[in-house]
Amino acid sequence: ERNIIHTLLVDLALQRVVIVWAKETNYSASKLDLNLVNGNWFLLIINKMNIRKSFEPYTVPSQLYMWESAVKKFRLTGEYVADHASSGIFLKSQLHGEDFFTLAQVETKDCPLHEANRKFTNILVFKYDKDMENFVEFECLPTCSVVDQASLTIDHTNYLVLLSELGALHVYAYLHPEGFKLFQEIKIKAAYSLVIVEIPGGPFIVVSIRSPPGIVVLRAHVQGIQPFRLLD
Ligand SMILES: *[C@@H]1O[C@H](CO)[C@@H](O)[C@H](O)[C@H]1NC(C)=O
Repeated sequence: ERNIIHTLLVDLALQRVVIVWAKETNYSASKLDLNLVNGNWFLLIINKMNIRKSFEPYTVPSQLYMWESAVKKFRLTGEYVADHASSGIFLKSQLHGEDFFTLAQVETKDCPLHEANRKFTNILVFKYDKDMENFVEFECLPTCSVVDQASLTIDHTNYLVLLSELGALHVYAYLHPEGFKLFQEIKIKAAYSLVIVEIPGGPFIVVSIRSPPGIVVLRAHVQGIQPFRLLD
């Protein structure tokens, strides 16, 4: 078995899709995201497991790459170890010119915030450091067993929406400069994925439910000059 990361490029001159970069990996990826940060394209590959390891195969680094346009390659700029990494996304605060990425774990052994409770899993948040020109540890959010996540921006406020297997949707608001604060919790059972739909009257958060099979749709509201409330 061989796992390969391929980077495809839409060549507008040739009017076709070409493979510009390919790399063999021993990891099995669960998610990826791409974002323009400080003029550079970053590729985040969330790795769930190492296919060559039998001992602790789920404790693996996720990888961050930066695109080097001169050589048409992604260069590895950082590795971030997590347990059972299920998802990760970039999040941009336009208002404050800040960039973050998150890394969700479904099981974790040693997050300092929750040493006492091994069942607790966390979201690791990294922030772009302009001097280091890389992402560094920022904070650890106490939401457990996150299987999917997304971000949305309403009236310049960034929200991080975390879907937990334990029956809840957690909405964090980014309060500059302290960090992400839990803003709302909505109970949703047996959910496994979510997507943000930006259409007039929205944005809407569409959550897929395993049993009974179906979806739940939530709407993000603006209430006066108060920020926002996410309601059923
Ligand atoms: C994958 O793992 C094998 C065995 O541990 C190692 O020899 C090889 O160099 C690894 N490949 C990559 C791309 O890291």
